[in-house]
Amino acid sequence: MSRVGVVGAGYVGLTTGACLAHLGHDVIVGDIDADKVRRLTKGDVDVLEEGLPELVAEGLATRRLRFVVGAAAAAADAEFVFLCVPTPEGEGGDADLSVVEAAVREVAPVLPPGAVLVNKSTVPVGSSGHVGRLLRAAGAVPEVGVASNPEFLREGTAVRDFLSPARVVIGADDPTVAVRVSDLYRDVQGPVLVTSTASAEMVKYASNAFLAAKVSFVNAIANLCEAVNADVREVTLGMGYDPRIGFEFLHPGPGWGGSCFPKDTAALARTAARVGDDFPMLAAVIATNREQRDRVVGKVRDAVGGDLAGRTVAAWGLTFKANTNDLRDSPAIDIARRLLGEGATVRGYDPAGGEAARGLLPGLEVLADPYEACAGADVLCVLTEWDEFRWLDYERVATVLPGRAIVDARNVLDPAAMRHLGFTYRGIGR
Ligand code: UDX
Repeated sequence: MSRVGVVGAGYVGLTTGACLAHLGHDVIVGDIDADKVRRLTKGDVDVLEEGLPELVAEGLATRRLRFVVGAAAAAADAEFVFLCVPTPEGEGGDADLSVVEAAVREVAPVLPPGAVLVNKSTVPVGSSGHVGRLLRAAGAVPEVGVASNPEFLREGTAVRDFLSPARVVIGADDPTVAVRVSDLYRDVQGPVLVTSTASAEMVKYASNAFLAAKVSFVNAIANLCEAVNADVREVTLGMGYDPRIGFEFLHPGPGWGGSCFPKDTAALARTAARVGDDFPMLAAVIATNREQRDRVVGKVRDAVGGDLAGRTVAAWGLTFKANTNDLRDSPAIDIARRLLGEGATVRGYDPAGGEAARGLLPGLEVLADPYEACAGADVLCVLTEWDEFRWLDYERVATVLPGRAIVDARNVLDPAAMRHLGFTYRGIGR
């Protein structure tokens, strides 16, 4: 059992803290937001993450998990301090490290000798060196170690991804530091890979960029399927059986979004550019993703006869993917913005992100009921792959949606069944 401090109580920091407490460590999570700390101390978790509220409650009950205001308070008596603060997209696509730097300066003077600062925030390759120098400059004792431990948590399955990871990556240029950090994960079911700090930082970016590339590729294939009368679902089935390809991340849609892929692909492109590499393949991945949103808007425009002005669109799904309440860089929100921009009325519905979407986009109406969202609309557009959209009553939809047109940007519906009910149906690659 180790004493662990976690800086930042966002979905990565909270998941990390609660899971490490669940593994038996003594964890203090610090956040600058005093109100959030108050709510978390009462067990009030505001992110939609399966199993996380229960783990937080367990940690609070066993007193292995505590929440404090500020980074220094979390770090003061810790053997390990995890940095889990945001690195949003900054100038020109670079990762903005200002929050990481502020946290390092705050903890440096209080870190006890022998402590290890473990970076879990997504930072450009080479940042561990920068963090080490900053630590020294900010008054940390020489015996403080630095490690990189990138997270691969997916929103919606973060707890499972932490406790049963595909792999744990630990980057440390000092082998003793690597061994000590690995030991924190001794009860986790998954391989632990020890690398240099630079390699660990690159694993994170390369993994996200590769997954984004896979999605952009399948979207490009889907578009080609439409042109040659093939069905992308049959095609991805045929591809996925090849274990070198696999079935995961082969679902075409409106393009990728969220708090990671967009900023990480941009930051990786910047890292490459800085060393004179224009990384054309990555540029194509990003461009294909942008075009995919245009294609969906084009399908909606076609579905209403070519002009969106004065038309009403029911938009089912506003979050960037299903099983999360996160709207950050959501393709659905971006598409709704473009539809509004072309003069359409957009009536949105989302099982979890509706409240947060209210007021996000001037003109976007948000309804609490999917059928109400369809009332009087010319076209229904499915933008997020929530399960509930598969089993809603489409005969009822047919009675309230005078336009009788469906654009299924996530291929969650059965085209034949929709056409049988008298809808025109447009999917992605079908
Ligand atoms: C991602 C990585 O998966 C995770 O390892 C990393 O730690 C953080 O970034 P997340 O942002 O939660 O996780 O989303 P993910 O499930 O990866 O989906 C990313 C985007 O791709 C979403 O917009 C999703 O809708 C889209 N996507 C994903 C597809 O369009 N098709 C697919 O087959 C898979």
